[in-house]
Amino acid sequence: MSLYDQMQETLGVVRARAPGFSPQVGIILGSGLGDFADTLEGRTVIPYAELPHFPHSSVPGHAGRLVLGTLGGASIVAMQGRVHAYEGYSNVQVAFPARVLCGLGIKTLVVTNAAGGIHPDCGPGDLMAITDHINLSGWNALTGPNDDRLGPRFPDMSHAYHPALTQLLGRVAQEQGVPLRRGVYVMSSGPSYETPAEIRMLRTLGADAVGMSTVPEVVAAAHMGVRVVGISCITNLAAGIGHHPLSHEEVAETAGRVRDVFIRLLAAFLPATTKA
Ligand code: HPA
Repeated sequence: MSLYDQMQETLGVVRARAPGFSPQVGIILGSGLGDFADTLEGRTVIPYAELPHFPHSSVPGHAGRLVLGTLGGASIVAMQGRVHAYEGYSNVQVAFPARVLCGLGIKTLVVTNAAGGIHPDCGPGDLMAITDHINLSGWNALTGPNDDRLGPRFPDMSHAYHPALTQLLGRVAQEQGVPLRRGVYVMSSGPSYETPAEIRMLRTLGADAVGMSTVPEVVAAAHMGVRVVGISCITNLAAGIGHHPLSHEEVAETAGRVRDVFIRLLAAFLPATTKA
């Protein structure tokens, strides 16, 4: 079955579960950042396991549910958890849920993740607007035959992170009193964290934060012509920058610590994107 036909099947199930609901904004909630979805009003919740072709995660902190609801007058579809290429999925499969969100007719996709801080100014607990990315995953979400119904064979990535919406995010953050940095996100394949030598290399390459996700979904959204805004939650200093070993526990703990600020920022920003 083609990717396009798989998407139609999944979209049919989502539409049947939330009849008449047409989301304006989609959001992918990264490691430990899923609680925002619980703040949506009039929620319809669909476990990924009930969605045909939807990959589901095995990582603690990734609940794996699609949540549809409203907030501040905006209709929103949220992914509470995502899968990663390191779980054994291809980047094509990793991007599939983002394609379903785009297929629901969203105008904006907000991607979030937990990331290690490489830039000296990026410390644990900081939020960073992603201005661009470097794909070092070794793979691309568009590998394989192109379906022209979804997008072009060679999509432009010059403005993959929508500049005006990213500026809007900065203004909203300022209004909310939320400090927000800007920087370049690099995707490494994981699941081992990077070595200190790799982090020095990534710094030289121009990366400010490193993680194991996001790039496949952004490539798919760019392919489908959907505007993207990216936010990294810096959960730890990247390898060799701090003085203690990296752990998933630290990542989860820091993500939990920024929970309220993160939710406040998203609650103000997501409705604002529908007017921009
Ligand atoms: N490296 C890669 N992925 C991550 C990190 C990191 O330091 N922190 C959170 N996700």
